[in-house]
Amino acid sequence: MLSIGLPPLYKDLRFHGPLSQPRADGLIRSLAPFRDGKVVDLGCGWGEFLLQVLAGKPKAIGLGLDIDAESIEHGLKNVKARELEKRVELVVHDAKSWLAETGETVDLVIMLGSTHLFAGDRTVEALRAIRPILNPGAKVLLGETFWTVPPDQRELQTMGATKDRHRSLADLVETCFDEGYRLLNLSQASRDEWDAFESQHAAGVQRWLLQNKDSEHFAEVQDRAARRRFTWLSAWRETLGMAYLTLAVD
Ligand SMILES: C[S@@+](CC[C@H](N)C(=O)[O-])C[C@H]1O[C@@H](n2cnc3c(N)ncnc32)[C@H](O)[C@@H]1O
Repeated sequence: MLSIGLPPLYKDLRFHGPLSQPRADGLIRSLAPFRDGKVVDLGCGWGEFLLQVLAGKPKAIGLGLDIDAESIEHGLKNVKARELEKRVELVVHDAKSWLAETGETVDLVIMLGSTHLFAGDRTVEALRAIRPILNPGAKVLLGETFWTVPPDQRELQTMGATKDRHRSLADLVETCFDEGYRLLNLSQASRDEWDAFESQHAAGVQRWLLQNKDSEHFAEVQDRAARRRFTWLSAWRETLGMAYLTLAVD
């Protein structure tokens, strides 16, 4: 945790993950046929994907939940700019407690890069936690990390991870079936999408470093950026994938 706030990520990123606009368009198409029902995005960030889903579904309504107030504040500006106020709510709220409290059911759950909010086997825990809120025929868009190749000991050490943190892609898909979901579409982030995400993620920090050479926090921020860059380029760039799974329940 840094001792100062840094420029918000959304200034450089469209989505908070390795996702290009063409792939996002394809993922939205993979949800068809999607009736004009209710959508919830758990760990929505600033809600860009949710807003794009709703933009093409004039009668659908959506709820996005995230614990990061700054992201939600930014997302609400986009809601207003796109005139979606009547159909979209973005709320600062813990998604896990919302799942435990809500009596609502929905037609689509979006979880992109956010299963880490569940402890233990996060994929299984997430798939189980959302099951009670799914209407018959509902869909789930899951963005989940997986090992593209088994990481070696050095890579695991660099990432501060254990091998069981992620599955292989084949295991990830089978886990979804084991938990009662059907796979309608599968794609994965390309190397270019990962590189664009990591570069844009770092860009705000690098600009801050260029403009704040005299800051008492300079060394701390520079060190943190260097550690993330090293972990990316020497460990997870070769081993970590992001799968996008469109799932459905009976
Ligand atoms: C990698 S970002 C993905 C954001 C968004 N889904 C997207 O793809 O643009 C993960 C998000 O999960 C949020 N998050 C982490 N723990 C959470 C929790 N317990 N409840 C709700 N959101 C949470 C973070 O604040 C962050 O915005």
